[in-house]
Amino acid sequence: MKKILAAVLAAAVMCTSILALAGCGSEKKELHMATNAAFEPYEYQESGKVVGIDAEIAQAICDKLGYTLVIDDMEFDAIITAVTSGKADFGMAGMTVTEERKKSVDFTDPYTTAIQSIIVNEGETKVKTADDLSKATVGVQLGTTGDIYVSDLEGAKVERFSKGADAVLALTQKKVDAVVIDNEPAKKFVEQNKGTKILNEPFENEDYAICLKKGSELTEKFNKALKELKDDGTVKKIIDKYIKA
Ligand code: ARG
Repeated sequence: MKKILAAVLAAAVMCTSILALAGCGSEKKELHMATNAAFEPYEYQESGKVVGIDAEIAQAICDKLGYTLVIDDMEFDAIITAVTSGKADFGMAGMTVTEERKKSVDFTDPYTTAIQSIIVNEGETKVKTADDLSKATVGVQLGTTGDIYVSDLEGAKVERFSKGADAVLALTQKKVDAVVIDNEPAKKFVEQNKGTKILNEPFENEDYAICLKKGSELTEKFNKALKELKDDGTVKKIIDKYIKA
């Protein structure tokens, strides 16, 4: 009896150490995603949880690669530093691929596209076209591409807010003449703020991708997983769930 018990115990110990060595026990390795969950439909808080297109695509990638996803909510302009410092394993936040950002992080292949939109108050007379921004006070989210574009416009006065929603609030209070922000969040903000509208003006086209630490070995794995999820329709399904045509 003792011998059997000893054998069972020995076997159990061996199994655990093999599993630990292989890193494939019940505990999967965690991957931390840095995001700014104030950007519906890509990422936003719902009953204490971060949900949205990015959260679901990240979950699908982690499921495929065998990682546990942990989402860390922070200011948008803190995401790249979180990734370069290794505090987060990747950043995903409706983040546009730009040459400037590519100097500090690597990007995966894009998973979707976006376009910058201009939100104004109904009845706005000063800002009717994108060109009019150069004589206006424009609200943006700090550190976003909207911030970069408007900052480059000669004559425009830029008001930077830590959240897009705060920029839109300032618009409704007539503290700014317009807000420049990505098209899908812009639609949500207009839905939520009566008396505002989106100008029908073509602006910058952008690609959204996931950023990782320069040289990270995860980038290739992410690209492979992303390709499979695009090919089998998962990415489209997730996007369609949040963005109704
Ligand atoms: N696409 C823009 C950028 O990359 C805005 C992204 C803002 N995202 C957010 N989660 N707040 O700069």
